[in-house]
Amino acid sequence: MVEKRGADAIAAVIVEPVYGATGVLIPPLGYLQRLRGICDRHGILLIFDEVITGFGRLGVPFAAEYFSVQPDLITAAKGLTNGSIPMGAVFVRQGIYDTFMAATGGIEFFHGYTHSGHPVACAAGLATLEIYESEGLMNRVQTLADTWEAAAHSLHGTKAVIDICNLGLLAGIELESAEKPGQRGFEAFLRCFEKGVFVRTARDNIALSPPLVIQPGQMNQLFITLAEVLNGL
Ligand SMILES: Cc1ncc(COP(=O)(O)O)c(C=O)c1O
Repeated sequence: MVEKRGADAIAAVIVEPVYGATGVLIPPLGYLQRLRGICDRHGILLIFDEVITGFGRLGVPFAAEYFSVQPDLITAAKGLTNGSIPMGAVFVRQGIYDTFMAATGGIEFFHGYTHSGHPVACAAGLATLEIYESEGLMNRVQTLADTWEAAAHSLHGTKAVIDICNLGLLAGIELESAEKPGQRGFEAFLRCFEKGVFVRTARDNIALSPPLVIQPGQMNQLFITLAEVLNGL
């Protein structure tokens, strides 16, 4: 894109460090470092969307730490309040913060908000942060990842499964598409739901990112149900 459009036309690059919204896609080794290098060379900001990967999903607080790549901005949401109350946040590098503060006379990002800094959401966020700390949740995934990996890969050989990938407490199961793309994924979602297991699908990809307090028995329940459902489709 830099060659095609020129670096001046590109303000920022935004990526999920591990793609979760499209299924689970793990970056090749060195990919994010290379992206950082390209952005640095051309004065382009690098933004990590950590809505899924943030708050302990990979066994450390943020994927930026996991991959040792520092973006200029991080967007976060879900884990910020444990999903209990809607809230999003953007973390920015000091220089960016200073620029906004200088331009707006002391209000971070002057805009016509309705719900900015909503006290109930902030209370939920603060309470969640306390629980992350007191229960050691930011690092809990380090002790769960191997069990999670084994449970996810137990699906090898299951009908229609063509790929399984995992990192931290994330797993993606790619299904072979039936006649109509997305149909098999949707059927799997419905039948799992009927059996008490809630999975998320992006077309024929099943993307799993369970609560950080999941127990090994619940992991088994999840993957055994998925196997039963897929084999029965
Ligand atoms: C990776 C990712 N980014 C952004 C969003 C949107 O987040 P929000 O609706 O909290 O703004 C989602 C929602 O699922 C997401 O999965």
